[in-house]
Amino acid sequence: MPQAAARQRAVEVKGAQCRILLISSPKGGSGKSVLSRHILVSAAQAGIKAIGLDFDRQQTFSKWAARRARTREAFPDFAETVVEPVSLTHWRGALRRTEGYSLAILDTPPSVEDHLPAIDGLGEAADLILVPAVCTQDDVESVAPWVKALAAKGFATSVVLNRANRRTTSYARMRGVLVKAGSVCPTELPQLEDIHVPSTKGLTLLDYSKSRGIEPFEEIWAYVRREIGL
Ligand SMILES: Nc1ncnc2c1ncn2[C@@H]1O[C@H](COP(=O)(O)OP(=O)(O)OP(=O)(O)O)[C@@H](O)[C@H]1O
Ligand SMILES: [Mg+2]
Repeated sequence: MPQAAARQRAVEVKGAQCRILLISSPKGGSGKSVLSRHILVSAAQAGIKAIGLDFDRQQTFSKWAARRARTREAFPDFAETVVEPVSLTHWRGALRRTEGYSLAILDTPPSVEDHLPAIDGLGEAADLILVPAVCTQDDVESVAPWVKALAAKGFATSVVLNRANRRTTSYARMRGVLVKAGSVCPTELPQLEDIHVPSTKGLTLLDYSKSRGIEPFEEIWAYVRREIGL
């Protein structure tokens, strides 16, 4: 199918007014779910009607949201979030869930090569694809060709460097490879030792205004908003 027609079809199945942010990477453990929940909380705190769609069978994103719902029963001041578990096999049906929302954040499993038609369809519908990448040889070797392939399809794509340590030479080398492959988000995520702690209660660093490490997430959110025109 010609690309324009495929894009039109993908746009038809998603909620007309809803911006779609697809978070995808061929590598496991690169930070997809961490980014998904922080961006969802940023949107909720900004008063934007947002939904998270969890395409990963591991359901990391949905389980986090279930913990958050339990925490909110005792502490309702934490911003309310909605995350639904969905399936890549039925990705068109999943996109219909975005009706009535202004933003949908799509968390995906790592093995993209097993789900190429679905990822392509979601890519067509997406306003932006964020590709988190840890600055290691292994991650960059699979992320760089993936980013090039997405760009060749005309998808707006941006790499978010994760666990970045500017003091290492491997950081500079890996960043260089990714910059040559495609767009790189100007803000990176450093190694944040405590990032998993709030997650046990369904929270994020953004739920605590004085958290160390909050700024990069705020900047990435500002970047995403601008890029998708929200
Ligand atoms: N910047 C960071 N600093 C420290 N730990 C991090 C950072 N980013 C992610 N992690 C940790 O790395 C692990 C993997 O992160 P996450 O679950 O977001 O990756 P993922 O890409 O969703 O993985 P999967 O492919 O398995 O779904 C988690 O334990 C998370 O807490
Ligand atoms: Mg995940």
